[in-house]
This record gives sequence, C-alpha cells and structure tokens, in this order.
Amino acid sequence: MHKTSEWLQSFSTSNNPIQRSELRRASDFACTKVSITGGKGGVGKTSIALRTAKELALAGFRTLLIDCDSNLSNTAIKLGLPLDNKFEKILSGEASFQECLIQRGNFHLLPACNGSVEVFESKLNFDEIIIDIISSHEHEYDYILLDCPAGAGREVLTLNAYCDHRWIVVTPDKSSITDSYSLVKLLSTRFGIKENHLLVNMYQSEKQFQKVVLTLSETIENFLGARTHILGGIQKVDVSAEGFDTFFLSENKNEFQRNFAKLLYGFTEKVGGPLNVPKNGIHQLAYEQDVH
Ligand SMILES: Nc1ncnc2c1ncn2[C@@H]1O[C@H](COP(=O)(O)OP(=O)(O)OP(=O)(O)O)[C@@H](O)[C@H]1O
Ligand SMILES: [Mg+2]
Repeated sequence: MHKTSEWLQSFSTSNNPIQRSELRRASDFACTKVSITGGKGGVGKTSIALRTAKELALAGFRTLLIDCDSNLSNTAIKLGLPLDNKFEKILSGEASFQECLIQRGNFHLLPACNGSVEVFESKLNFDEIIIDIISSHEHEYDYILLDCPAGAGREVLTLNAYCDHRWIVVTPDKSSITDSYSLVKLLSTRFGIKENHLLVNMYQSEKQFQKVVLTLSETIENFLGARTHILGGIQKVDVSAEGFDTFFLSENKNEFQRNFAKLLYGFTEKVGGPLNVPKNGIHQLAYEQDVH
C-alpha cells in the first residue's frame, strides 16, 4: 500500500488517538510542513499564509504554498494572478504538479479551483491528493505551507494532523475562539495532536491580545492536556477591505511588516528550519520583480 494511504488508513481503522511520534515522519525529511488553519472563516488564514510564504521565500527558503480551499481558492486572486482552474487537470490526471505550479523565485504556489464543476463532482478525496503531492515533492522544499479552508471537517483535520506544525489563527471574536477550540479538540481527541501554535489576528489592544491568549491556552491545557505555543499577534489594521491585500502583502518595511517578520523568525528559529534565518534579511530575490 502507498505510504500516504497507509497513514490515512491508520485513522479510519481505529478510534484510538495515535501518538504524535507515530505520525511524525518529518525527521526523515528536511522540509517543515505547516498548516495555517483556525476553524472560523475570514480570520486571515489566506493572508497570513501568503505573507508567510513570501517572507520565507525572500529569506532564501524554498517555499511551497498549497491552497487547500479546493473550490474557493483565494491565493491567486490575492496576488492579482489569473484564475485558471488548472488544478482540475491534476484531478483528471491530465496535468502534472509542475504544470499547475506558479513559480516566482523561491516562492511556489499551487492554487486550487474556483467554482469548478469537476471539483464539485469529483469523488476523489482532496486531502489524499494533497498529501500525495506533499510526499512526492517535499524533498524539493524547505517549507510547505497549507492554506486551509474554514471548517473542521475530516479533510481539514487530516491535513492539519499530517503537518509538523499547525498555526491556529484566531481573532478576538467569541465565535472564532470557540471554533478554534473545537478544531483543537478534534485534533487532540481524534488524532492525538497535543501541540499547536496560536496566532491572534485583528486584535485592537494588548489587553485584548492577552485575554485571547490566556483564555484559549488555559482552556486547551486544562480540558485537552494540549500545549499552545504563542506565535504572537497581528493588529487590526485600519485599511479598507479592498486595500488590505496590497497593504499586507506589500514589500514596504513599515512597523507592521517588521513585526510580522519578527513573529515569523521567532517561529523558524524555534522549529530549527533547515537553513539559518538570514539576520540581515536577504530580501532581493526574484519574487520582488515578478509579483507586485
Ligand atoms: N490584521 C487585519 N486587519 C484588518 N483586516 C484584516 C486583517 N486580517 C485580515 N483582515 C481582513 O479579513 C479578510 C479575510 O482575510 P482572509 O481571506 O485572509 O481570511 P481567511 O481566514 O483565509 O478566510 P476564509 O475562511 O474565507 O478562507 C481580508 O481580506 C481582510 O479584509
Ligand atoms: Mg482563506
């Protein structure tokens, strides 16, 4: 049996949570796999995934971002790239991974589809397709990031469990806090995941940030016995919805961008990525010329 199918099978044949050590195959590879997730919709997952991929690529890491929102893909649109539903051809076996990939220097993006009838009608399991793509190509990358869709369905949970790290994106909104807890709970009880990273987006004061961090991390620890690593926060910015992507993904090195870079480098240092994080920021790679 293919090793990915074997890995997936292990969850459907037993209700017992599988120990993290059994899931980890990362030690066999240099690639670090991170899912950007959170349960609730509209909390900033795609924006954060894109910004992170961009920073990592500019810092010299070979980075692949996979859009896992199979039929409501937002990554290409946020970068101002055309939508072509090419991913359909991966499903039908007519195109290869390479043929569907958008490449800008160290930044590679695999977009998904937008309103594709083929995807809607496909009987294939999207999580299995993504995991097969990852296992075939992870040796080509330092980081693989998954931009997860909203929700806590089986496919999202499987993709989250497969990754080495999960970034739980949460906003101070009560429903976002509740949804992220539900996601963490399912990951813990069903997949034995006992460690996650927390990123608070759109907070408006330090007090609000601290409250979200404390509420979630204590509840997760007390009720699930799971650990929450605090990645940090991103303040709510006062720009129009139309202007947000341009602002958030811009090359400007304003305080906001510097804070995000700091948050990210804190993470790469902690997870001990395969390369040393450049201290002075080698931010002049091809990406800048090709996108924006
Ligand atoms: N820090 C922020 N400050 C202000 N607005 C923000 C911030 N982060 C995100 N937004 C707003 O939230 C919108 C939704 O962001 P995004 O598409 O990244 O969320 P998402 O979690 O990926 O959504 P979905 O669940 O639909 O995939 C952005 O287009 C932007 O308008
Ligand atoms: Mg999204």
